[in-house]
Amino acid sequence: MTAFELRRKYIEYFKEHGHKEIPSAPVVPENDPTVLFTTAGMHPLVPYLLGQPHPQGNRLTDYQKCIRTGDIEEVGDNSHLTFFEMLGNWSLGDYFKNESIHMSYELLDKVLGFDMDKISVTCFEGEDGIPKDEEAASYWVDAGIPRERIYFLGRKHNWWGPAGETGPCGPDTEIFYDTGKPACGPNCDPSCSCGKYLEIWNNVFMQYNKTKEGTYEPLKQKNVDTGMGLERVIGLLEGKPSVYETELFKAEIDKIKELAKNPNEQSSRIIADHLRTSIFMIIDGVRPSNVDQGYILRRLLRRVIRHMRKIELDTNAIDVLVTTFIDEILYEMYPETKSNKDVCVEVIVAEKDKFIKTLENGEKEFAKNAAKVKEQGGNKLPGELVFRLYDTFGFPPEMTDELAKENDLTLDMAEFDKLFQEHQEKSRAGAEQKFKGGLADHSEQTTAYHTATHLLHKALQIVLGPHATQKGSNLTAERLRFDFANPTKLTPEELQRVEDIVNEQIQRDLKVTCEEMTLEEARESGATGLFENKYGDKVKVYTIGDFSKEICGGPHVEHTGDMGHFKIKKEEAVSSGVRRIKAVLEK
Ligand code: SER
Repeated sequence: MTAFELRRKYIEYFKEHGHKEIPSAPVVPENDPTVLFTTAGMHPLVPYLLGQPHPQGNRLTDYQKCIRTGDIEEVGDNSHLTFFEMLGNWSLGDYFKNESIHMSYELLDKVLGFDMDKISVTCFEGEDGIPKDEEAASYWVDAGIPRERIYFLGRKHNWWGPAGETGPCGPDTEIFYDTGKPACGPNCDPSCSCGKYLEIWNNVFMQYNKTKEGTYEPLKQKNVDTGMGLERVIGLLEGKPSVYETELFKAEIDKIKELAKNPNEQSSRIIADHLRTSIFMIIDGVRPSNVDQGYILRRLLRRVIRHMRKIELDTNAIDVLVTTFIDEILYEMYPETKSNKDVCVEVIVAEKDKFIKTLENGEKEFAKNAAKVKEQGGNKLPGELVFRLYDTFGFPPEMTDELAKENDLTLDMAEFDKLFQEHQEKSRAGAEQKFKGGLADHSEQTTAYHTATHLLHKALQIVLGPHATQKGSNLTAERLRFDFANPTKLTPEELQRVEDIVNEQIQRDLKVTCEEMTLEEARESGATGLFENKYGDKVKVYTIGDFSKEICGGPHVEHTGDMGHFKIKKEEAVSSGVRRIKAVLEK
């Protein structure tokens, strides 16, 4: 069975059972600032799981493009991926455990042809206030799974969600396939990661809403949310031990190995996985940068380039790797890759050119220092080197750490953190100094432009979508200039809406407040902003009423009321995928 067929069979089965097919949402979530990417099929459906009626009804099915970068270091083994597709079906307050379990069983057995003797399932073992899920287990028994292949596990394994900080969640029942590997010990069960049991499907019984305060409230309606990883299941159906050997990757991996002088399996897999993810991010409007989604894209592409060099694959051939992937594999399942091929190549080649220069210098610096440490019989690289590589050569510490591991060395991260903090304080003080000095005459007006920039940033995201993130900004006492990601020119209507939204916030006379917190807390509070601050201890978060929350050094006005009338003067292209707005505040 091909991935294409698996997808069709899944969707058709649920359509036959009263579900409507809905399209995949973009990989950058549209309504959830607490996460960078769509991580599950249910993510775009959160408002409907919370009770809002869905225009297509209360039984839905789809395949959703997902990105999860939490396990990026694991990519290269048989199963970890940063991009994957999730097949799913949902009941929004319609059917619940019984029907869901029976349909899952029937699809695996009759439609996909799994050997059901190799299927085990897990159910929630219960905890204070939430009973052991004997109910789900009894439906599995009904359907045909014997008791001895039903396992009860705790919250760590059998509770799912919410996808972000808050939202729908609940106990789940997970379906595992026994690969036939011998058990790793007497206690080996589906919760074990030895590779004997592979999770293929997850049915979540969403009954609760996790609130900001961390409490669980019963939802208005009982929902079912299921997710099946397409890549993993196709691996099993094709009988391939690794997803990279399936049709989803094979032609690309072969190309990488053909072009590399010194190929190895792990680097080939990392290159293929990261390029695939990058292609989908670029199509949905992400561009390499130092913030938010753009930072992740940059990190993925930098890893691709580093591994290309490692296996002696000329980095100038990166365009061939992109076009091979699209022409030979991706276009069939994802036609949008074909129409966006040029922009994907352009963005990836430009980022490669930029990175290769710094990389060459940085790697020399690393090798020299690593040799020195080893000569002296040590195994720890000084934090000063990690900082220098970061500051001067643009190496994220994660990358230096990877290089160090390859050389059996460790990093002095405590020293790095200290140097990084000192650097942050110095540059903050420097920025404030510059502000006080150079702009003293007009500081009030420049401050208003600073606040207007935050309002504009948020307004652009409302009008264009969450991909419209900041790419740069420049203020004078006379105007603001703001660069942001967007693939196309803005229409006059869009510009008008952006202008209106900003002016509305000015008229609402919103209070601007500032709080200091750790970057972690800032992210949790839903603030957008600089990823570069990752290793700093405290950041300032500016909140403008209920409208915007950004990590920022300031300064800002105290109330939006007397900033003047916001007027966009010009909208133009800066580079591929990046637009620029010049605007003024008229008094
Ligand atoms: N939300 C669940 C998951 O991601 C099921 O779709 O596993």
